[in-house]
Amino acid sequence: MTNRPPLDVRRLRQDFPLLAADPSLHYLDSAASSQTPVQVLEAMDNYYRHFRANVHRGMYRASETASVRFEEVRRKAADLIGAHEEEIVFTRGTTESLNVLAIALTRKLGPGDEVCLSALEHHANLVPWQMAAKVRGFALKVLPLDTEGRLDLEAARTLIGPRTKVVSVAHVSNVLGTIVPVQEVAALAHAQGALCVVDAAQSVGHLPIDVRRLEIDFLAFSGHKALGPTGTGVLWGRKSLLDGLEPVFYGGDMIQEVFWDRATWNETPWKFEAGTPDVGGIIGLGAACDYLRLVGVEVIRRHELELLAYALDKLRAVPGVKLLGPARAEERSGAISFSVAGVHPHDLATVLDTENVAIRAGHHCAMPLLRDLGLIEGTARASLHLYSVPEDIDALITGIAKAQKIFRV
Ligand code: ALA
Repeated sequence: MTNRPPLDVRRLRQDFPLLAADPSLHYLDSAASSQTPVQVLEAMDNYYRHFRANVHRGMYRASETASVRFEEVRRKAADLIGAHEEEIVFTRGTTESLNVLAIALTRKLGPGDEVCLSALEHHANLVPWQMAAKVRGFALKVLPLDTEGRLDLEAARTLIGPRTKVVSVAHVSNVLGTIVPVQEVAALAHAQGALCVVDAAQSVGHLPIDVRRLEIDFLAFSGHKALGPTGTGVLWGRKSLLDGLEPVFYGGDMIQEVFWDRATWNETPWKFEAGTPDVGGIIGLGAACDYLRLVGVEVIRRHELELLAYALDKLRAVPGVKLLGPARAEERSGAISFSVAGVHPHDLATVLDTENVAIRAGHHCAMPLLRDLGLIEGTARASLHLYSVPEDIDALITGIAKAQKIFRV
């Protein structure tokens, strides 16, 4: 894998309909949602045209084909993250995966117990734990960052203690781009008998991931940030741990036997998947996993790292631009937050749109972090994926200069 040639980005951009149709579009909002290649669209179209039926229940060909194609996505998703297929639970996305964990892992917690999160979490890895803490009475602790926005491992070592039952951290910050050393965090959690949950919304498809090597316990990611369709996602957990958890959603498919007064549960992973799933979407997610593996996540990382270094250098050279997050590109993934003195982030995004540059501006669903940074009105954020090119960064720089001229700064 490591000897693969660099990406042929120009050719590969032709796979992405929005980018192929409009070569002047500079899409720098992949941290919010990636673009989707035609291979994913074709996989979904094929399902709707040729074997559209429900899964796990029809004794006829279309349903059997749909069930086989749906189930084989577990292996595809597992291969992408170094997991076993029976450990892959399909969800609607990272948020749903983390909600399930925040409920299921805290049912036996109470006063005196603690759950640790990091100071760079977005709302999806904070609010579900806050709500569970209200119901169960356990305490939430926040692991602090250093001045460059990296997790302060020394502080984590003292805060993760014998009362800690779960440590849940982002693998990559959607605001600062920081890569969190989740293997070290998992080791700290395990030394105290706690479990380690990783929110991989910003890392799957960008960084090579092997859940066994990382020695973590649970991982959540979204299809739509990893070239797949919206409304799809994965919750991965170690089989023995998933087996020990009670489901969170109840209904069809997740049951084994039902009586008027009680029910028993299906096996892992199906006991976590109540109701008809997004069959076409999950089949599309499988095609996205295939695409990522075919290109090679290590190759994607190399490409993004090169572009990230280019972008950081270019942005640093612009007077009035303040970059957030670690200075070294190697310590980050492709989300680049910055502010421009005298230009509100929303105004900047609007001006950039006139140059056909798409970025996100605002609090990035991470208000506590932005508040800690003293930036409650938000930041501008440019984010990369495998199809991003230096011209996207050049257009961003041109657009920033245009905004500075309009706002006379
Ligand atoms: N968490 C997503 C983002 O960072 C929505 O934009």
